Amino acid sequence: MAAQNLEEIISLCKRRGFIFQSGELYGGLQGVYDYGPLGVELKNNLKAAWWKANVYENDNIYGLDSSILAQKKIFFYSGHETTFCDQMVDCRKCKKRWRVDHLVDARCEHCGSQDLTEPKPFNMMFKTIVGPVEDQDSYAYLRPETAQGIFTNFKNIMDSLSPKLPFGVAQIGKAFRNEITPRNFIFRVREFEQMEIEFFVKPGEDEPWHQEWVERRLTWWKAQGLSEKRLTLSAQGPEELAHYAKATVDILYQFPHGFEELEGVANRTDYDLGSHTQGQAQVAIQANVAVNKDSVHKLTVQDPPGKHFIPYVIEPSAGLDRGVLAVLTEAFHEETLSDDRKRIVLKLKPHLAPIKAAIIPLKRNEPALVETAQTIKHSLQRLGLGRIAYEDTGNIGKSYRRHDEIGTPLCITIDYDTLCTTEENEKSGTVTIRERDSMAQKRIPVSELIEYIQRFYR
Ligand code: GAP
Repeated sequence: MAAQNLEEIISLCKRRGFIFQSGELYGGLQGVYDYGPLGVELKNNLKAAWWKANVYENDNIYGLDSSILAQKKIFFYSGHETTFCDQMVDCRKCKKRWRVDHLVDARCEHCGSQDLTEPKPFNMMFKTIVGPVEDQDSYAYLRPETAQGIFTNFKNIMDSLSPKLPFGVAQIGKAFRNEITPRNFIFRVREFEQMEIEFFVKPGEDEPWHQEWVERRLTWWKAQGLSEKRLTLSAQGPEELAHYAKATVDILYQFPHGFEELEGVANRTDYDLGSHTQGQAQVAIQANVAVNKDSVHKLTVQDPPGKHFIPYVIEPSAGLDRGVLAVLTEAFHEETLSDDRKRIVLKLKPHLAPIKAAIIPLKRNEPALVETAQTIKHSLQRLGLGRIAYEDTGNIGKSYRRHDEIGTPLCITIDYDTLCTTEENEKSGTVTIRERDSMAQKRIPVSELIEYIQRFYR
């Protein structure tokens, strides 16, 4: 069974070096987390799987890495300055501040009082000063979504690649939101990563493409190990839709705290390219630059030649940190073994595992065992599959338990039979491979190890 409560995941993440509270040394910064040595591997593997499935496997999807710091004009014309708000209330009794839609029975979560102020909008964008002078004009935003970097580079991509519709631009990167009430570990945080695609289509072809992307994204999440029964789709009602969307289908996952949004797939219409087309014309007018017909039609495509129009956009937007949490939730298992011992095992898909294999010499002080184990470790490391660990605790049982808990799919033990060369011993020159989920062990010749591992990770 997958993890039942968040506490067991948080505890594993800290104990084994996946995720830590940021600034813990000084009491911690709320809603901000650091990924430790294993967490960063898991997160990078999830990103790599997304990039491969979307960018490398689709000739019409191109990558981008745009800046985090963004001019305020971008978020004025995108509509975020006026509409990217949550409704907030203050508790008059204990002075705590809450996001109104998070409260149960309009009651303060801290003291239970119902003496709350009227809801008022709170803009979630972080501002920062750019340059040495601090005044009204010198601030910029930390982007609250990666998407705007794609829209503002639309013309650059058209000019440099001349792509034909339909085509997409994909980006993975940090986004920042000053959440009123961050909560549920890495589920709702103030600094997080998004994996977003803006997929440009002809108006009129947007609805079938919207459905297609919902299907594609659901299939991809399943390939990351999320089970069908813990995934569901939910179409947003008119009151939930973001200011830019005509329709949005959320992919919900059953996290330990309930079914919640993992990814949103929105039909953003021509809203953003339209707004930035208007926006840059306005800016040019204000700066007294002559605005000709061409410059107000910049964010368009021509199809057929001579016929300009603003394409519609389908946007699958996934939270990477929520993806990590979902994958950890699904993989977490506590099992009772036949001798009544318990084991915690992370049943991660092999391509996501932070460590691909652990090499364990039977004894840590036996030079011949150590040397052979190190040689095998280096030969597997050279395959470029990811991290291969060398374990020299000298305690096989302990090593297996540790690698079960961090999700290492294979443990390879080097013992005296590995070193043996006599033909009478049928185990001569073999290693033991132990498989994480079944705990099954088998011996294979060292000479076949590379091929075995390559096949396993193919
Ligand atoms: N560009 C569209 C967009 O940003 P969104 O629904 O606001 O849409 C997309 O965000 C995804 O980003 C969400 O489905 C979620 O996975 C993730 N996300 C949003 N806010 C988050 C937060 N405060 N902490 C962690 N992930 C978040």
